[in-house]
Amino acid sequence: MSNTVTLTDNRTGASYEFPILDGTKGPSVIDISTLFTQTGMFTFDRGYTSTAMCRSSITFIDGQKGELLHRGYDIAYLAENHTFLEVSYLLLNKKLPNAHELEAFRLEMKKRSFIHEGMMKIFDAFPDKSHPMAILQAAVASLSSFYPDHLNANKPEEFHEMAMRIIAKMPTIAAFSYRFKKGIPIIYPNLDRGFTENFLYMLRSYPYEHVDLKPIEVKALDTVFMLHIDHEQNASTTTVRTVGSTHAHPYACIAAGIGALWGHAHGGANEGVIRQLEAIGTLDNVDKFIARAKDKNDPFRLMGFGHRVYKNFDPRAKVLKKMCAQLIDEIGIDSELLKVARRIEEIALSDEYFISRNLYPNVDFYSGLILKALGIPNDMFAVIFVIGRVSGWISQLIELKEQDSIKIVRPRQLYVGESNRV
Ligand code: ACO
Repeated sequence: MSNTVTLTDNRTGASYEFPILDGTKGPSVIDISTLFTQTGMFTFDRGYTSTAMCRSSITFIDGQKGELLHRGYDIAYLAENHTFLEVSYLLLNKKLPNAHELEAFRLEMKKRSFIHEGMMKIFDAFPDKSHPMAILQAAVASLSSFYPDHLNANKPEEFHEMAMRIIAKMPTIAAFSYRFKKGIPIIYPNLDRGFTENFLYMLRSYPYEHVDLKPIEVKALDTVFMLHIDHEQNASTTTVRTVGSTHAHPYACIAAGIGALWGHAHGGANEGVIRQLEAIGTLDNVDKFIARAKDKNDPFRLMGFGHRVYKNFDPRAKVLKKMCAQLIDEIGIDSELLKVARRIEEIALSDEYFISRNLYPNVDFYSGLILKALGIPNDMFAVIFVIGRVSGWISQLIELKEQDSIKIVRPRQLYVGESNRV
């Protein structure tokens, strides 16, 4: 039996054969690259829900099983035993670092965490009403003019430098985006602090005030960064690869990814969770909102429940659920918002409507609660997501650039406009 699929055109009876390609895990794919030349037709796949757009060896997801692997390591194992920087190293270098490699990686991150002073003028130009994501995206795009040589990066050491720079500078740019918007003094990176601790310090500190960072807060934020590090070919990663396929500057590709991530259907979802919990407000209102979520005639959806790919408990949500409980317990928060969140989680996990549709709490539900507990402002949630995801984006971009040849991403369409009018 040949490893092919045969497509029959029932209008003419003509058949066409396409090879089946097998990966190491997950569904096989039908290679339809010769479809148009063979049949004169395209495929129609809105949202690319049935399309594999590349070969990749970075991240694997099994949505039915609720499995997520980075370079073959299960996310629960990584979260239990490693830090965000170690997993960043893993994505970039295809292996976890030994103690010596990790020390060198950490040191390089620290040294590269400062940004060119000329960038201050860019931050300064934004009005107070700017969303921090707007400032972040513009500042990251501007990095392409501070490091023009990365445009032609094609050697391993050049890829390394462009990756280290962007990962190391992202927390600084993120914290500055927030502080310039608020009009409060910026705080430069502190080299005595670790990667995640330093970000919290740059976000929270004041020149006149000692900042108290609890180890559990740093651990919780580090876990949020790690849990967002990469997620296969999602909208923002696909955007980074699409822009990369035109050979644009790597930091222009990352800036495009930030634009894609901003929306509430992607990186803005955890902010949506908290805004919805704030709107529900009190325990008395929970039943009313649950009834709305279940009402077929009401477009209202419970934010933080369900996932396009995971039809089982999102493995990232499992890790963050535990971390969220630990954080809340250790810092001792007991807000009305938390009570509302707990009640909704309880109902959704036992109610037939949610069970029968596989609507489990997703990663955004718990990351929203963690970021809220850390006192991070709602409009910084997507920015936090970017700090984590940039390690994945840059690894995916390097993987694209390492291929023998890059094919520009150029989908086709089903034209439904006017036919020739003259
Ligand atoms: N609340 C209430 N009902 C829901 C919800 C929800 N959050 N999500 C899905 N449903 C219902 C739908 O109404 C539908 O019901 P029906 O079968 O009776 O018509 C059924 O569950 C299936 O819904 P679909 O929209 O087909 O599921 P899909 O997998 O396409 O949607 C999505 C996934 C978009 C994430 C959806 O669950 C949703 O809107 N969730 C809320 C928003 C959210 O939390 N987004 C973040 C996702 S995580 C991330 O992107 C990183």
